[in-house]
This record gives sequence, structure tokens and C-alpha cells, in this order.
Amino acid sequence: MKRVFYHVGELTTATGSAAVSGKAQGSLLTLHHAWLLEENGTIAAIGEGVPPQADDAVDCKGKLVTAGLVDCHTHLVFGGWREHELAMKLQGKTYLEILASGGGILSTVRETRNASEDALYEKTRGLYLEMLAHGTTALEIKSGYGLDLETERKQLRVIRRLKEEFGDVAATFLGAHAFPEGMDHEAYVEQLCNEMIPAIAEDGLADFCDAFCDDGVFSAEQSERILAAGKRFGMIPKLHADEIKEIGGTQAAARVGAVSCDHLSETGEDGIKALRDGGVIAVMLPATSFYLKKPYGDFRGMIDAGVPVAVATDMNPGSTPNLSLPFAMTAGCLYGRLTPEEILTAATLNGAAAIGMAETLGTLEAGKQADLVVWDADNLDQLIYRYGTNRASAVFKKGVRMTGKE
Ligand code: NIG
Ligand code: FE
Repeated sequence: MKRVFYHVGELTTATGSAAVSGKAQGSLLTLHHAWLLEENGTIAAIGEGVPPQADDAVDCKGKLVTAGLVDCHTHLVFGGWREHELAMKLQGKTYLEILASGGGILSTVRETRNASEDALYEKTRGLYLEMLAHGTTALEIKSGYGLDLETERKQLRVIRRLKEEFGDVAATFLGAHAFPEGMDHEAYVEQLCNEMIPAIAEDGLADFCDAFCDDGVFSAEQSERILAAGKRFGMIPKLHADEIKEIGGTQAAARVGAVSCDHLSETGEDGIKALRDGGVIAVMLPATSFYLKKPYGDFRGMIDAGVPVAVATDMNPGSTPNLSLPFAMTAGCLYGRLTPEEILTAATLNGAAAIGMAETLGTLEAGKQADLVVWDADNLDQLIYRYGTNRASAVFKKGVRMTGKE
């Protein structure tokens, strides 16, 4: 079965099967009056001019086509919402003050523990479909609202069900998201390393292991110990670092061989060097900075130093309940000063690399999976410029239309 996507006004894509950095991050392959040929879910060819014959044809109406977006950092499985924190935020309470008073992550933990697996699944599936409608065709989802083995497993089983239904969902164990109320911190770190990680690994529930390394949460030393334990059990390390304060997370991530280090809004020159020397991908989360009214981070310094930069939503009920990756892309351009070309690479190829999917996803090249978005935009600049409304007009996974307007 062959399907041709024709009358593409602009087809623009990063190239390659690994994260790219420096100048290469802003170098896209761009075709005009283009077409894309898909065969059995895979891209067979792309080109300009007269399209080839096929069994089925999709008119792209002169619009922009890109690879499906890859959201490499989300917290999509959670009970309840936290809109009541908005008033506290408006009164000037900080994220960590809300957490310290038993709200924040800990209130979502209570609601997630109380929710049934089926209810969590239905809710997460609904959010997934909304993300798909905004152009995200692959994503990572973290646990971390259980902070006990039973609930963390429940969250990870929800992620596994979503992966079985749609494919291209990476699972991350984030037991080290906060300290459980009333528990000694060292005792919890020991429990994570010696009981929870081995049990999660035994069930094969997590591809990656992550920790929230920051002021008032897990120290760099504790984070490194947790990630090293995860690695021994086959989970690839990732790290939340430098969101609130630089406390050595980038160096810990580099030492433990993390694939990515995420947030990085407070990272300075030494941290950037540690990421570059460690070959760690920087996952920037500008929608979180927007909602927390915090610094965005030195995106340009990372590009200039040769660190591959990815961008993700960080979708979660507290620090950023936004699931639109295009919104994060616009914020990354405006406040991180990346070009539209650099941010597209960040949201596709580099995002895919941050979750181990760059060999099959993230670009529109022959041999890759035919995950693509037809945008209601004439070109890439217009996609970034017309922020605030959903511009994804049709979203395809393996060549099959998953969602779209009309
Ligand atoms: O990535 N920083 C830590 N964790 C999440 C927030 C989770 C929450 O507030 O529920 C984040 O921003
Ligand atoms: Fe996060």
C-alpha cells in the first residue's frame, strides 16, 4: 500500500538519526512544491515537482509539512488537577513554598494514590489524544506521583497500556520526584535504590530513570546514586536539574552518563561545559518557565557550546498544565532566542534522541516511520508566529491519519 502526500507548499526537516548540535541544529532540509511517498507506514521517498503515483493520495493544500513532534519530557499520568494553586501563585507564593506546605507535587500524589488504574488510563488517554491533535506523535511519560512502589507501578502500567495502544511512548521511572510525607530522606533514597528500582525493572516497566535534583529536593549526590542504581537495572539515566538552583546536577548527569538533563533554566557556563563534555542532551522546558514566571535558561549558550538542545512541554498539573509543544516552541524562540529552524530540530530529531527514538523518528527521510503533521501554516516561520491556537490540521502516524480538522 502506497500513499502519496502531494501539493506540499513547504516540507522542512532535520536530517540524520542522532542528536545534532551547533550549526547543524539550525540546518534543515527544505523542499518546496514537494511530495512525500509512504509505503506500509515508512517513508519511501521525498521530492519536489511531479509526485509519483500511489494507491492513495493526500492533498496537503500548499501547506507546511514537518515530521511529527516528539515531546521528550511529560508527566502525563496524574490524579486531579491543581487549579486552586493559581490563586496562591498570584499572591506571590513560590513553587517550593507551595510544595513545603503539603501542596504541589504532594497533593497530586494523594490524588494519584486514590485513583483507580482504569480512571488514570482514561484520563491519560484523553490527554494523549489532545497532544496528538496538537502535532505530537511520540512522547515520554514519567511516573513520580506515587512515591510508593504500588502507585508508581500503577502509573507505569498506565504508560505501558498507552504504548501498547499507540506505540512510540517511552516510560520513565521518577520515584525520586519528591520525598514522601513524613519519611526520612536517606531512608527513601535507600528504598528507591534497593527495593523500588529492582522491582520496577523486574516488571520491565521503565526505559529510563529520572530524579528531581534541586534545592530542597534530591541532592546531586543522592540523584547520582539513584540514577546509577537505575542504570545497573537497565534504565537509562535522565535528570531534572537546575530548575530552581544550580546544585551540581549537570555534573552528576554527565558522570552517570545521562542521555539528557532537563529544565536547566539556571545553568551557567560550567554546567554547559559539563553537558557538552558528557555528551548530554539539554532538554529545555520554556512553557514551565512561562507559567512559573522564572528564567528561561541559556539556550543560545548551549547551542554555541555544541550541546544538542531539545524542547519539550513538561506537561504536568503543577508547573505547566500545557500540552501544546508548538506553544513551547514559540516560547523557546522568543525567550531562548533559538531560530525556528533550531527549535524544529529541538522538537523533533533531538527530542527523539533524548528518548532513544532517533533511528526511527524525528525526520522526514526515506526509511523513517511516516509520522508527519500537515500544518495550517504556509511555512515554518508562520507556525512559530501564529502561536496560541492549534495549527495542526492533520496528524499522521505510520502514514495513517490519526486526527485532524474538517
Ligand atoms: O518538571 N520539577 C519537578 N517536577 C515537575 C512538576 C511537577 C508538579 O508540580 O506536579 C516539573 O516541573
Ligand atoms: Fe518535569
